[in-house]
Amino acid sequence: MKRSVIDTVDLTVEELDGIIQTACDIIDNPKKYSEKCKGKKLATLFFEPSTRTRLSFEAAMLELGGSVIGFSEASSSSAAKGESVADTAKVISCYADIIAMRHPKEGAPYVAAKNASIPLINAGDGSHCHPTQTLADLLTIYREKGRLNDLSVGFCGDLKYGRTVHSLINALSRYSGIKIVLISPDELKLPKYVREGVIEKNGMEYVETRDLEGSLASLDILYMTRIQRERFFDADEYERLKDSYVLTAEKMQLAKEDTCVLHPLPRVNEISVKVDDDKRACYFKQVLNGKYMRMALILTLLEDAENGVLPTHDESHVVTNKIRCVNPRCITSVEQELDHKFEPTDKEGVYKCIYCESEHKI
Ligand code: CP
Repeated sequence: MKRSVIDTVDLTVEELDGIIQTACDIIDNPKKYSEKCKGKKLATLFFEPSTRTRLSFEAAMLELGGSVIGFSEASSSSAAKGESVADTAKVISCYADIIAMRHPKEGAPYVAAKNASIPLINAGDGSHCHPTQTLADLLTIYREKGRLNDLSVGFCGDLKYGRTVHSLINALSRYSGIKIVLISPDELKLPKYVREGVIEKNGMEYVETRDLEGSLASLDILYMTRIQRERFFDADEYERLKDSYVLTAEKMQLAKEDTCVLHPLPRVNEISVKVDDDKRACYFKQVLNGKYMRMALILTLLEDAENGVLPTHDESHVVTNKIRCVNPRCITSVEQELDHKFEPTDKEGVYKCIYCESEHKI
């Protein structure tokens, strides 16, 4: 296994800051980077739909002078014939130098990274995490605010299934003076493993509320999210919740003059198009920043692979096959012959699945 990025915790704060600085240098000096990946190939393996992530990865590699192979849906790959994620990763390692992979099952990119002989970047796995969206978010916050510390950050919408929220909270937990405001319907609150395992564990200040209007005046960053229709097992519940929050030009009058409005996109109905002309709307800048951060990450991981840098994940406390992960979204629910592996949490007798992070008692 080569050094890969499955979530933002795989990058130290120093590395995150270094990737931001590289991205800023790419923005200022694009020519300097235009042949850095000459002769290298990126494979984009997208088992789930994407516009921004796949195309920005591809644009990133092309602007670095490299080339791209891949597929944009599972049905056009041999996954449709039953090929496993592990075998797919072994096969693609014969053709490419680095992989960007999106998959509906949580933990699938981790399984792929364990079986690949080239670096792998998680481009989104189920409701679990989406680290390169976080890189886009961090660069946007840094460029708009000039800092990543001392910020009040509101997350609004589907905090349960919104993987970009989980990854950004994880990244922000490593900076100081961050206050988190979690705005959602009760049914779509942040999962316990993120609230307890990241926010509370790191002593971050936070509140949970259903009230967007009442929260706006306090926020430096407002991170709107889509209600994730594709993650609901109950269509009626989605219909009931889908328009829980709609940010309008009128509501923006309640926000600070310099509040930065972010959204990972795609949006459905949660930000009125009338907000797009507001100078505080930064979500299309965020799209462009994503390409620069993906360029910087590709460079970092290819350099690490060349220098023989190894992954640091410590698996010495992992227990294997004592229990089974019951999360139906976990890769263990579909990948044949995959060992069920758990590692201890801070709570007595509670272990988390190393693939999807759902908690189980042993
Ligand atoms: N933000 C994001 O992941 O967009 P796509 O689903 O279009 O890649």
